[in-house]
Formats: sequence, structure tokens, C-alpha cells
Amino acid sequence: MEAILTVRDLCKTFSNESIQQHVLKNLNLQVMRGDFTVIMGNSGSGKSTLLYALSGMERPSLGSICYGSEEISRYSNDQLALFRRRHCGFVFQQNYLNDTMSVLDNIMVCGLLAQKDRKALAPKAKARPWVIRRGS
Ligand SMILES: Nc1ncnc2c1ncn2[C@@H]1O[C@H](COP(=O)(O)OP(=O)(O)OP(=O)(O)O)[C@@H](O)[C@H]1O
Ligand SMILES: [Mg+2]
Repeated sequence: MEAILTVRDLCKTFSNESIQQHVLKNLNLQVMRGDFTVIMGNSGSGKSTLLYALSGMERPSLGSICYGSEEISRYSNDQLALFRRRHCGFVFQQNYLNDTMSVLDNIMVCGLLAQKDRKALAPKAKARPWVIRRGS
């Protein structure tokens, strides 16, 4: 099976004044295409930090992240923005809704930014998650 994500020796360190917090330490991981992968761990163990790195929202301190054969950890900010728009869907732990837009538009905003047709997006945005098929 093909690896859609390959993470090699990923480290993420946060520095607060003189204190360094090593949240991700030499993490290696492969996510295979079509798999449903769950990341579990205690609060504060670094799950969100890992997801922000995998989706190109945060840069690793060290190590590499490949999406297929593309090393996204080398991408510029503009390339990362395109990668996120084309390939990532993300449900944030916190509420980051845009309060100038309707709930429906908040759900559709990524599709609209990707120039997808509003009429085609709306039924998908209104559908219950369990009726959305993989690849749709
Ligand atoms: N931007 C940041 N600056 C400094 N420290 C951070 C930052 N983001 C996360 N941390 C720290 O990194 C550690 C891991 O945080 P993270 O949010 O990734 O954990 P989590 O596993 O998602 O926790 P939870 O289950 O509570 O959501 C925590 O100690 C957190 O305080
Ligand atoms: Mg979290």
C-alpha cells in the first residue's frame, strides 16, 4: 500500500524565555492511503502539534514530512498555503469560525477558495458526515 504521509525524525521544540520544551522528539510515522489513522495520547502529549505539522500549519524544528514524494517541510509559505487548500481538511479543537459568514459558508469556505462550484458544494456541506463517501 502507498504511503500518503511519511514523517522522518520529526522534532518540535517550543522556546519560552530560557526554557525549551521538546514536544515531539524524533518521531517517525507513515500514514497509508485509504487508512483511517487515529492518534491517541494524554493531554499535552503533542497530538495537535503533530497535526499542525502534518497539515503544513506549523514548521518542524527538525526532520522531514513528505506528502507522497513531495517534501512539504521544504515548502515556502505560499506553497504550504496551496498544499493546505488542495489536500487538507481540518477540524480544529478550538472554534475558529468566521462570524461574518453563515455556518454553511464556514463549512464551504475551503471549497470556495479552491474555486469549486457553490451549487455542487452546498449538498455536501449539508450532508451528515457519515453519508459522505471517501473521495467525494
Ligand atoms: N505555540 C506553542 N507555544 C508554546 N508551547 C506550546 C505551543 N503549542 C503547544 N505547546 C505546548 O506543547 C505541548 C503539547 O501541546 P498540544 O496542544 O500539541 O497537546 P495535545 O496532545 O493536543 O493536548 P490536548 O489533548 O489537550 O489537546 C503542551 O505542553 C503545550 O503547552
Ligand atoms: Mg490537542
